[in-house]
Amino acid sequence: MERVASKAEARLAVTEARREGKTIALVPTMGALHEGHLSLVRAACERADYVAVSVFVNPTQFAPGEDFESYPRDLEGDLGLLAGEGVDLVFSPSVGAMYAADAAAVVHPGPLADHWEGEVRPGHFSGVATVVTKLFSVVRPDLAFFGEKDYQQLRVVERVVTDLDLGVRVVGCPIVRDDDGLALSSRNAYLSAEERSSALALPAALEAAAAAVAWGEREARAVERAMLERVAGVRGLELDYAVVVDPRTLEPLDRVDRTARALIAGRVGRTRLIDNAALAPSADIGGAGTTEGNR
Ligand code: PAJ
Repeated sequence: MERVASKAEARLAVTEARREGKTIALVPTMGALHEGHLSLVRAACERADYVAVSVFVNPTQFAPGEDFESYPRDLEGDLGLLAGEGVDLVFSPSVGAMYAADAAAVVHPGPLADHWEGEVRPGHFSGVATVVTKLFSVVRPDLAFFGEKDYQQLRVVERVVTDLDLGVRVVGCPIVRDDDGLALSSRNAYLSAEERSSALALPAALEAAAAAVAWGEREARAVERAMLERVAGVRGLELDYAVVVDPRTLEPLDRVDRTARALIAGRVGRTRLIDNAALAPSADIGGAGTTEGNR
């Protein structure tokens, strides 16, 4: 496994792999890696001959006052985990290596970025779209892997790739959860034991939404109410949104007559958490596919 910190070295490493005719995959991350990230790495290793992982805490996607400075960083630990997965290249630039001091051009993803996370975190998706576009232009991957955990981010990246003709195939991967149901996140490290039990209300609310749909509820507002009831009164949880949306456009839906997506987000103490699940109005008892796969 090769580790590089400059764009020129990353370009060179990948150019050689490309010359050998290899299929190139990129897995963009901000590090502090966990099984969720590793699931993307494993999917990439299965689908591509050469796998690059970027580890870069991107300042432009953090709003002022957010946790950019305190965001967990553990490059040595990350390198150890990636070495065990058969990764070919780790690109871990400094902020100065990634952005020129006078860098000014940015990517605006359009209306998909205006809702939900975009409303709570102004400028966030422009920062994500800009850094992902830059990473794509350095590595020029054939495939890029993103988690459904950040469902809106996945849709935003797909939009940018399509609209800017980036020629990268974006692969979405299912959410990896802990045994208690909490979606894995680098930010879970911030949670105290008590906060963690409050945080479990998010996946529980998504289960309540899926159960409502499985029992035949088709009114999106009623499904949203089921989520709100589940989180009401949970200590320390401040909800930002709990909504039922079209899985492509992320616009609110009136009815769940076909597969929809439930999105939920909030803060527990100082920790921001997001989660989501597919809502499938299938005839199967139990509402098959509550959380994974069926996009
Ligand atoms: P980060 O939060 O480190 O996540 C990197 C990738 O891992 C994202 O595609 C995210 O959706 C995926 N991921 C995180 N937790 C997951 C889980 N529990 N199950 C499945 N996938 C999971 O997302 C970012 O970094 C940044 O915004 C980035 C795309 C790297 C741009 O800076």
